Amino acid sequence: MTETFTIAVDGPAAAGKGTIAKALAEHFGFAHLDTGLLYRAVGAKHLLGVDPAKASQTLTAEDLQGDDLRGPEVAQAASKVAVIPEVRAALLSFQRSFACRAGGAVLDGRDIGTVICPQANAKLFVTASPETRADRRFAELAAKGAATSRAQVLADVKERDERDQDRVEAPLKPAEDAIVIDTTELAIDDAIAAAIAVVEPLRVR
Ligand code: DC
Repeated sequence: MTETFTIAVDGPAAAGKGTIAKALAEHFGFAHLDTGLLYRAVGAKHLLGVDPAKASQTLTAEDLQGDDLRGPEVAQAASKVAVIPEVRAALLSFQRSFACRAGGAVLDGRDIGTVICPQANAKLFVTASPETRADRRFAELAAKGAATSRAQVLADVKERDERDQDRVEAPLKPAEDAIVIDTTELAIDDAIAAAIAVVEPLRVR
């Protein structure tokens, strides 16, 4: 298939956008890019003492591997390096070419529908209350045996939301033409079904 079709899935941490993006990619047979992983990889390198701009300009596929990118410390570091314009600029062209790849693409992140791919065929903004998102993240971390509390996870979620929303460059916000899916009261299967129902009619136009 040489056709391009881009689905942008934006939203705050732990709202379910990664799971929804993955399910959309599987349903439509598209490639999926978790753009948060790019920022996490830069954040992880910064924690090791590498200059963030330099890290973003020299990222390799290998840098995106590994479970340690999923932890809360790297998440905060990712959110911090993500305010740096040089870092965002360095990661832009990779994301744009991925979005335009033949065969269709789903990208999830914070600025896909607003900055990376304003011409995306479908835009979703997946959100949920901070308390619900913290509960989900806490359950994930507890299952992995991480030593943290729900209060700490909620504080982290709120801190990251604020930084991601208040930054000057590409702040987290729904694109004007994004469809908002609030997953606070939705089971994940229902959220996925809602997302597919938004995209399906756009495919056949
Ligand atoms: O989606 P995530 O939680 O893995 O993202 C980690 C951080 O990376 C997030 O707090 C902000 C930043 N990020 C961003 O600024 N722009 C994106 N498109 C994706 C992530």
